[in-house]
Amino acid sequence: MTSLAAARLPESEQPLPVVRSVDDLRTQVSAWHRDGKTVALVPTMGALHDGHLALVRRARELADRVVSSVFVNPTQFAPHEDFDRYPRDEAGDSGKLASAGCHLLYAPTVRAMYPEGFATTISVGGPAEGLCGTFRPQMFGGVALVVTKLFLQAQPDVAVFGEKDYQQLMVIRRFARDLDIPVRVEGLPTVREADGLAMSSRNAYLSADERARAPELNRALLDAASALAGGAEAATVLEAVRARITAAGFGSIDYVELRDADTLAPVTRVERPARLLAAAWMGKARLIDNVPVLPA
Ligand code: PAF
Repeated sequence: MTSLAAARLPESEQPLPVVRSVDDLRTQVSAWHRDGKTVALVPTMGALHDGHLALVRRARELADRVVSSVFVNPTQFAPHEDFDRYPRDEAGDSGKLASAGCHLLYAPTVRAMYPEGFATTISVGGPAEGLCGTFRPQMFGGVALVVTKLFLQAQPDVAVFGEKDYQQLMVIRRFARDLDIPVRVEGLPTVREADGLAMSSRNAYLSADERARAPELNRALLDAASALAGGAEAATVLEAVRARITAAGFGSIDYVELRDADTLAPVTRVERPARLLAAAWMGKARLIDNVPVLPA
């Protein structure tokens, strides 16, 4: 219900409507579809930054109406991971989504998403194998489960995800195709800080000193991508990235790998579009990044 004060605000400053149940979400989306409007979904876990807002702006270009979900999904976190301390700020997120042109916020509770007795899992292979799939083995099953639910709940025509989570994007494309979910999955290039650091909600875990060192990951990947495109041997180049980010202050390195850009199969030579992907720890933050590598 719009209050009198809200009714006086211009459209761009209206508070963002929020729904928390599947019924309320479907009522709104069905009404839009009945009116002939297309609908885009931008799934998020909140703690929104400019990277998320770029997804919303892209969604606005692709569809008439944009729904964004904010849900910190417990099934994609292992018990030792940061589910409890993951940053949450629904009021702040709502204001940012409204300013980016989102039309509806879907913010279900954990209990609504996974009611008592919930007993279903989804297992994904193919692009989910290796990389983050090795170091966070529960992650892609949890992502597949929640994103499948979001697709079935919101029934969007198109959904937009960031290439920063490149493996996640490939996994979502794979299971949407495999399960015949009628949604177009769009990827958007990574949005970066001025010094190249990929925007991420987890950058909030970096101290000032760590934040200053963190962009070296992107610089090392970009230099490696040029060397690989120029025909340099992959094993040598990947080893140089590891040495360089270790020297910059990264601790444990989960992986630095060259993969096929579409299938994510491991590759040793760049004969078709490839992707260079890395995950490494800077203090308490696990940073991931990736860059395209195109054949010369
Ligand atoms: O990328 C994220 O923020 C999450 O993995 C997603 C896609 C919203 C699923 O919880």
